[in-house]
Amino acid sequence: MNKVVLNEGDKVLLLYTTHEKQTLKIMQRIKSHLDKKLSCDLIELLPTAQIDLNHYQAALLGSSIRYGFYSKVMKKFIQQHYQYLNNVPSGFFGVNVVARKANKNTPETNLYTKKFLASIPWRPTIAAVFAGALYYPQYNWFDRNMIRFIMWLGKGDTDVTKPVIEFTDWQKVDQFAHQFLTQTLGSSETF
Ligand SMILES: Cc1cc2nc3c(=O)[nH]c(=O)nc-3n(C[C@H](O)[C@H](O)[C@H](O)COP(=O)(O)O)c2cc1C
Repeated sequence: MNKVVLNEGDKVLLLYTTHEKQTLKIMQRIKSHLDKKLSCDLIELLPTAQIDLNHYQAALLGSSIRYGFYSKVMKKFIQQHYQYLNNVPSGFFGVNVVARKANKNTPETNLYTKKFLASIPWRPTIAAVFAGALYYPQYNWFDRNMIRFIMWLGKGDTDVTKPVIEFTDWQKVDQFAHQFLTQTLGSSETF
């Protein structure tokens, strides 16, 4: 079982996968809080990434949903490194647009996240789900129309001319960063 409590200045791995960079934006916001107490490396998990986990005393992983699934690369990384992840203070957050709905925005009520966490051998110390964003003009024809149709079914915003439709609750992201610091540093005096 985990977990050691961190000391100020310890190193934290912030690892993410993304398509349109909303997960990166969320990770950067979290980093802006963690940086006050810990030393953070922000790394995109590409299939070719070589990461030496011995450098890190804690890890936070973030990934977004595409057509019902979190990144395969992220899942493979977790399956390869779950023993390390289970032995350090750790966190996971997922990003998707279904999480814009109040009854689908926790790891227990967001089905993608519930299924994902149940399918891996890692038990993160804390987990969250954040609503993402839509960038209709950036999508190809197929994706734009698929997402528009899915949003229409869910009574969401279907205006494909808007450059960005952001659902992310930044206060919730800030609270998660606070919670991560509280858990890892073993103190509530974090902000
Ligand atoms: C092609 C495509 C498929 C998506 N599929 C889903 C989905 O199945 N369920 C969902 O809730 N959100 C879905 N989304 C919304 C994304 O999860 C959301 O845009 C998120 O902010 C993407 O984060 P990223 O930019 O870090 O990849 C999809 C978005 C795109 C463009």
